[in-house]
Amino acid sequence: MDMSTSRTATPRRLLMCPPRHFDVTYSINPWMEPEKPTDAALALLQWERLRDLFTDLGHTVEVIEPLPGVPDMVFAANGATVVDGKVLGARFRHVERTAEGPAYLRWFVRQGYREVLWPEHINEGEGDYLTVGRRILAGTGFRTDPRSHAEAQEFFGLPVTGLTLVNPRHYHLDTALAVLSDTEIMYYPEAFTPGSRAVLREMFPDAVLASAEDAAVFGLNAFSDGLNVLLPQAARGLHEQLRSRGFRPVGVDLSELLKAGGSVKCCTLELRP
Ligand code: ARG
Repeated sequence: MDMSTSRTATPRRLLMCPPRHFDVTYSINPWMEPEKPTDAALALLQWERLRDLFTDLGHTVEVIEPLPGVPDMVFAANGATVVDGKVLGARFRHVERTAEGPAYLRWFVRQGYREVLWPEHINEGEGDYLTVGRRILAGTGFRTDPRSHAEAQEFFGLPVTGLTLVNPRHYHLDTALAVLSDTEIMYYPEAFTPGSRAVLREMFPDAVLASAEDAAVFGLNAFSDGLNVLLPQAARGLHEQLRSRGFRPVGVDLSELLKAGGSVKCCTLELRP
């Protein structure tokens, strides 16, 4: 069935951070091997291609200046969670990234955002908070403190559903689950506890399920505008499944950033008005 005519892209406002100080100098997830060399020029080139892809698709990309000494700042998704113009700041689990929270929050304040909350509990922004329509899915298990889920629900006034991750290679929710539209998601069931898997089945019985192969190449670290789905090009099975559901999968190569355990979605923070 061809459903492509029934799907429409809606233009988004995105925040990104160029990887000008990118490197893998420490290891806080199993993807990061500091002894492996990184190519700074290639990282920047791959990131610029992603940014250009977004603007070519009609999205607006805002840019935050990277700070020296915080090489993971390129992963803008972790910098905050923005829903209905309200900004929940990020508070990082690891000391290597703590400076990023206030840096992102300052950006929002300077941009004139008024409802900005410096959180009480640890949360890593859109790495663990994914908005699906008027609901929020919230990861925990590795980074975000489950107490943050109640804080987010109270702040946004939207229902927050907690999901527990179990596989250290999928340490953030956005490495195991991607939002495709206001009602659809794709995910890798094995990354979750049995209870969380059952919750996802209950909420999204028709979800796209990723294979172990596609999950292992970070295929779920994807961004969708409702029609175009940008995701790692290596996730061939997901490309096929998305196409058969009327989406337009767009393959992206972010091999350098993958050395830090990040890809398309990690680089992209959505600024929801
Ligand atoms: N090296 C970073 C970390 O482990 C990668 C963050 C990836 N971001 C994401 N949204 N999953 O914190």
